[in-house]
Amino acid sequence: MQKLCVHCDTPFVPTFVYQLAVSKTRERQYFCSLPCRHAVLGDGGFRNRRARRIAVLNHKGGTGKTTTSVSLAAGLAERGKRVLLVDTDAQGNVGLSLGVSGEHSLYHVLVEDMHPDDVVVPVRKNFDVITSSQLLAAAEIWLARQPIETRSKALRQRLSISEVSKAYDYVLVDCGPSLNLLNQNALSYADEIIIPVNCDYLSLVGVKQVLGTLRNMEKHLMHTVRLSGVLPTFYDARTKLASEVLETLQDHFKEKCLPAIRSNTKLAEAPSRRKTIFEHAPDSYGAEDYLRIVDWLLSGEQRQQRTNAAA
Ligand SMILES: Nc1ncnc2c1ncn2[C@@H]1O[C@H](COP(=O)(O)OP(=O)(O)O)[C@@H](O)[C@H]1O
Ligand SMILES: [Mg+2]
Repeated sequence: MQKLCVHCDTPFVPTFVYQLAVSKTRERQYFCSLPCRHAVLGDGGFRNRRARRIAVLNHKGGTGKTTTSVSLAAGLAERGKRVLLVDTDAQGNVGLSLGVSGEHSLYHVLVEDMHPDDVVVPVRKNFDVITSSQLLAAAEIWLARQPIETRSKALRQRLSISEVSKAYDYVLVDCGPSLNLLNQNALSYADEIIIPVNCDYLSLVGVKQVLGTLRNMEKHLMHTVRLSGVLPTFYDARTKLASEVLETLQDHFKEKCLPAIRSNTKLAEAPSRRKTIFEHAPDSYGAEDYLRIVDWLLSGEQRQQRTNAAA
C-alpha cells in the first residue's frame, strides 16, 4: 500500500525497514529515502533503532549460561546501555539470581498473549528482565501444538509487537540446556549467539551440537544467526586439561574464541546474595573477566557504527 513520505510528501510503497519509524506517541512515520529519514530523525534515527539481540546458548547444562547472561547484562547496563534480559529456561534462575520473581513471566507473553511491556520487571538502572517460571514447561507444550510455520517464531512475533527493539540497546536471551522449542524460539529471535563452554573434555561436543543447531535453523527457518563468540568458562590455569581445552578452542575458533572466564567462587556466591558480580565483588577475577567481555561487545558495536557511517 502506498504511503506518503513525512518529509517530502512523495508517495511510495515501503519496502525497507528504515522506511518506517514509530514515534514515542506510537504514530507511524514513513520515509521514502534515508536522507528524508535523517532529515526528520537525525543521524541516530535509524542506526540506534534496533536492539542487538544476543542469545546465550549451549545445550549442555552448567556451562555458565545464566552467569554469563546476568553478568553481561549487568555490565552493559553499568556502562550506560539499556538492557533487557529474557529468561527462556523454566528453572527461572535469572529472577532468582537477581532477587526478583515477576508476577508474570515469559509464559504469559507467549501463551496468554500478555503485552511484553506489562511483563517486563526493572531490576537495576538500565536493566530489565522478563522472568521465567516452571510454567514455561507448559509453554513448550503449547508451542508444540502451534502450526509448524509459527511454532519457532512465537517469541520473535510477540517481542516485535512491543517497543522492545527501540527501548533497549541490547536484548540478551538466557537459554535452557536442551534442544527444545523455546531454544529454537530464542534462536529465531536472535541475530547473534554467544556459546559459553566450560573447559572440560566434553566441551567440544557441546559446541558442535550448537553449531549443528545453527545450521539447521538456517536451513529450515531461513534465519541466519551469527556466531559472535565462544566463551571459555570455569577456566583454571592450574589444570592441564583446562589449558588443553582452551588451546583447542583457540585453534578452532581463532578470534571468535573470547578471553576465558576464570573459575571464581565470587561468581558462584553472587546469586545466593541476589547480587550481580559487580555488586557482590567488583574487584574479583569474575568481575574483571566479565567486564572484558562487556567491553568486547561494546567495541563490536562501535565497529558496526563505523562501518555504517562509511557506507
Ligand atoms: N566462572 C565461574 N566460576 C565459579 N562458579 C561459576 C562460574 N560460572 C558459573 N558458576 C556457577 O556454576 C553454576 C552453574 O552456572 P550457570 O551459569 O547457572 O550455568 P548454566 O546456566 O549454563 O546452567 C552456578 O552455581 C554458578 O554460580
Ligand atoms: Mg541457566
